[in-house]
Amino acid sequence: MKTFVALILLGILIKSSTSILRTSSSQVPNFPEFVSVGVLNGLEILHCDSEIRRTEPKQEWMKRVTEDDPNFWYWTTRLCVDSVQTGKENIEKVKRRFNQTEGVHMWQWMFGCDWDDETDDITVYLQYAFDGEDFIYLNLSTESWVVVKPEALITKEKWVKSGAIQLAKQYIHKVCTVGLKNYVRYGEKTLKRTELPLVALLQKSSSAPVTCHATGFYPDTARLFWTKDGHEVLEDVDPGEILPNGDGTFQTSVSLDLSSVPSKDWDRHHCVFQLFGDKNKHVTRLDQSKIRTNGERGSHNLTQNDKCKNPPTSIITAVVVVGLIIIIIAAYLPLYRFLFLHLSHS
Ligand SMILES: *[C@@H]1O[C@H](CO)[C@@H](O)[C@H](O)[C@H]1NC(C)=O
Ligand SMILES: *[C@@H]1O[C@H](CO)[C@@H](O)[C@H](O)[C@H]1NC(C)=O
Ligand SMILES: *[C@@H]1O[C@H](CO)[C@@H](O)[C@H](O)[C@H]1NC(C)=O
Repeated sequence: MKTFVALILLGILIKSSTSILRTSSSQVPNFPEFVSVGVLNGLEILHCDSEIRRTEPKQEWMKRVTEDDPNFWYWTTRLCVDSVQTGKENIEKVKRRFNQTEGVHMWQWMFGCDWDDETDDITVYLQYAFDGEDFIYLNLSTESWVVVKPEALITKEKWVKSGAIQLAKQYIHKVCTVGLKNYVRYGEKTLKRTELPLVALLQKSSSAPVTCHATGFYPDTARLFWTKDGHEVLEDVDPGEILPNGDGTFQTSVSLDLSSVPSKDWDRHHCVFQLFGDKNKHVTRLDQSKIRTNGERGSHNLTQNDKCKNPPTSIITAVVVVGLIIIIIAAYLPLYRFLFLHLSHS
């Protein structure tokens, strides 16, 4: 799946992205069988699932959407409710096609666009995945469906016959040029802010790599890396992914294996955090007395802040473990409905 690119340059937002991810799943314990999530620059803005059965704003400022579209909540809720049933039918069809009628499965539809507000370029993707693997996607430059799994060939034939691409294109135009730009306008203050992380050095045992963990930063376009004598260390490092904290901020970590470094040389190392487009670097020296371990050596206690930010991460990890990575929304009724009800009849 694509990652979303949001670039903040000296506080000026020049690239935004929005996406919608709908997931129909079967036999996943404690997880709604249908979930639709709208994301803007890594921030969840809209949510609907088969349990709440309505579309809700996840950010206060998304309530302003009715200024431009008074029926927004009505029709997005209807789409959601309709999609619960069609999603269920579709996942059953796809499962049969893969001859996998038992066990945990997932059928995902993901649509998104990136907008560069300097050049006004918009790039779009629309793709389907089964059990986390690409199934079929739309290549807009050739205006054709690209079959990834042989099982998707029948789907492609049906969609070619129905002229789905033209409708998809109109939909993309509306969501990307109207929706995305409006959302960016509503959430301007939130989206253009920057937040610096809390950085901690962690180590599981005295022989384990030292992990530099940064949490609470925004936006998600950031880098965390190790340096030695001011030069970036490229060997013996293990960078982690940038993950959402669930409160609109992000966290990441990078580990450094110091097993061959004499302890007197440790403090030549620094952990560096840098937001993309920001010249300032936020540097933490590898001070052995500041490393937190499992109780025995740490000089730091977890702060209230750490405690608040850690639980959502474990929730997110659990979701990822089940294989459900959830993302986006923005939508305009006729075409959205078309994509939901028609395209998804694979
Ligand atoms: C589907 O699975 C069944 C049972 O494992 C097997 O007998 C059948 O040949 C499979 N069909 C296909 C199309 O793979
Ligand atoms: C779409 O098709 C063009 C032309 O064949 C190709 O260059 C491009 O890489 C394709 N894009 C994707 C995402 O497959
Ligand atoms: C950590 O918390 C314990 C128990 O509250 C306290 O005794 C200890 O002094 C604290 N350590 C630091 C470094 O704050």
